[in-house]
Amino acid sequence: MRIAESVEKTEMLCGFVHEGRDEILGFDRIKVSQEVRQALADMKGKMGATCVVYSPNAKHQRILLAGLGRETTEDTVRFVSGRIAQKAAGLGVKEFSIVSPDGDTSPSRIIEGVVMSLYRFDRFKSEKGDAPPDFTVVAPSGAGPAARTAGIVSDGVVFTRNVANMPPNECTPAVLAGLAKKISRKNKIKCRVVAEAELKRRGFGGITAVGQGSSNGPRLIIMEYGGGAKGAKPTVLVGKAVTFDTGGISIKPGEKMDEMKFDKCGGCTVLGILKAASEMGLGVNLIGIVPAVENMPGGDSYRPGDIIRLYSKKTAEIMNTDAEGRLILADALSYGEKHYRPRAIIDFATLTGACIVALGNNVAGMVSNDRDEAARIMDASRRTSEEVLELPLNQDYMDMIKSDVADMKNIGIGRAAGTITAAAFLKNARNDTPWVHIDIAGVAWKQAGTKEKPYNPKGATGFGVRLVLDYLQNL
Ligand code: BES
Ligand code: ZN
Ligand code: ZN
Repeated sequence: MRIAESVEKTEMLCGFVHEGRDEILGFDRIKVSQEVRQALADMKGKMGATCVVYSPNAKHQRILLAGLGRETTEDTVRFVSGRIAQKAAGLGVKEFSIVSPDGDTSPSRIIEGVVMSLYRFDRFKSEKGDAPPDFTVVAPSGAGPAARTAGIVSDGVVFTRNVANMPPNECTPAVLAGLAKKISRKNKIKCRVVAEAELKRRGFGGITAVGQGSSNGPRLIIMEYGGGAKGAKPTVLVGKAVTFDTGGISIKPGEKMDEMKFDKCGGCTVLGILKAASEMGLGVNLIGIVPAVENMPGGDSYRPGDIIRLYSKKTAEIMNTDAEGRLILADALSYGEKHYRPRAIIDFATLTGACIVALGNNVAGMVSNDRDEAARIMDASRRTSEEVLELPLNQDYMDMIKSDVADMKNIGIGRAAGTITAAAFLKNARNDTPWVHIDIAGVAWKQAGTKEKPYNPKGATGFGVRLVLDYLQNL
């Protein structure tokens, strides 16, 4: 990726066109041929439509016109840039240039759209396709810093996808912890990994209960990035990393069980955010806490009926071993609040199938106890087009997880409000810290109901990385 102020020699010069407007945005100083003028007149500029004109001009062999449609949103330039990138890859060009319509947010959107669209997970393919084309963004000189930040953010998304797409035999809790250590060494992040024996000793009863059924033992990953003032309260990020969720003794049906390799996506999001935050030198203190377990059935597994003691010292009656995410998150949330006294806690988890029933595959569910923090996340959501919708959590929902024999139970009443009763369980893990819970079950990877977008290719989406990095940049 390069940023340049003027157009240089390129195999394909790309520009945006508004629907019904006879103009290529940002091309005022670029001379185009009569053929391009004609193509522009023919082209309607419909959102996502592209048109390639072969130009005899030696400086750029091709001109690509890309339609933005009539009404643009925060996502339009990102979406259409993705279309351009896929077109370039399809044509087999080695590199291409996109002229930014402005020096404002567009260069960043272009970079995100192109990098995320050219992504593919081919680590385990013997035959790799052609290398993705290189690209240049043509933008005013002032756009440089923001564009470089966008490059780091996009690489963070790619990192998160790469880890999240790993198959469960290759990505155990120990492997995930090793990856966290590796990126920490490279990026001035402190990283500590707590293994099973110490987790037991220190009372992480949720993590050890879920992890005990697997020969791939649990880990708690703790990362500290100190970009802010010494003593400034940190933001704690918690992410569910169930490297594979069979459901345990309450085993899941076989259909689509393979997709439960994506049950680590929340944790992968947290890793990607920490990595990118330190690469861009964000002036904030940030803690990443990732409980990593494999939820397996076996002779050592925890069972329905068990009563366990969480890190908060509260007891939980296990009614369903498939509701494991809230158990490991509860420990991580309590630990984060107790040890870091943070200004806010944000957690990410592929927590409930109910979230897909409620909101589908294009909107994440949010539950929060703090109006300001929730509003900050909603603002970031608008800018990044990672959609989030808030769900309520009042005492009635808290009552739904009351147990006859313990302080709480790990499921609610039947299927009613499954996303909220899961959040209710998490709420019990903390005291008064501002907290935002984001259920990414529907959006963490491409599923049947996922809207087709060039920048969301098959597999993990990396949802939440751009959202939180935007939120942190605007604190
Ligand atoms: N990891 C799943 C949630 C999930 C399911 C995410 C499908 C994405 C797609 C979670 O651990 C789970 O199994 N939750 C149960 C909770 C229930 C037993 C209360 C669920 O949603 O069915
Ligand atoms: Zn489960
Ligand atoms: Zn799960």
